[in-house]
Amino acid sequence: THVVSENCIRCKYTDCVDVCPVDCFREGPNMLVIDPDECIDCAVCIPECPANAIFAEEDLPADQLAFIKLNAELALADGWKSITKRKAPLPDADEWKDKPNKIAELVK
Ligand code: F3S
Repeated sequence: THVVSENCIRCKYTDCVDVCPVDCFREGPNMLVIDPDECIDCAVCIPECPANAIFAEEDLPADQLAFIKLNAELALADGWKSITKRKAPLPDADEWKDKPNKIAELVK
């Protein structure tokens, strides 16, 4: 599967959802995740993300491994809904892009 990692938090650019052929993205308040049961590993979303937040599971940086479980859990969580069309990023996305240790900012 592919995994959305920390750098999506407080950015949510949503360029990724426009290219997904299986509509596997799920939207939370300040991050998207990928439903691992739907993702077909096509990888087309990876270069679309301005924050470089999406990785193939096997390419995830070591400090991002917690996001495998987080994507799987949040994809099924209450309130996390399918998103298939691009929309405006969060208002201060450009300020938060590339900030380290954003996991504390994740709103579930
Ligand atoms: Fe997040 Fe990047 Fe998509 S910031 S919403 S994974 S384009």
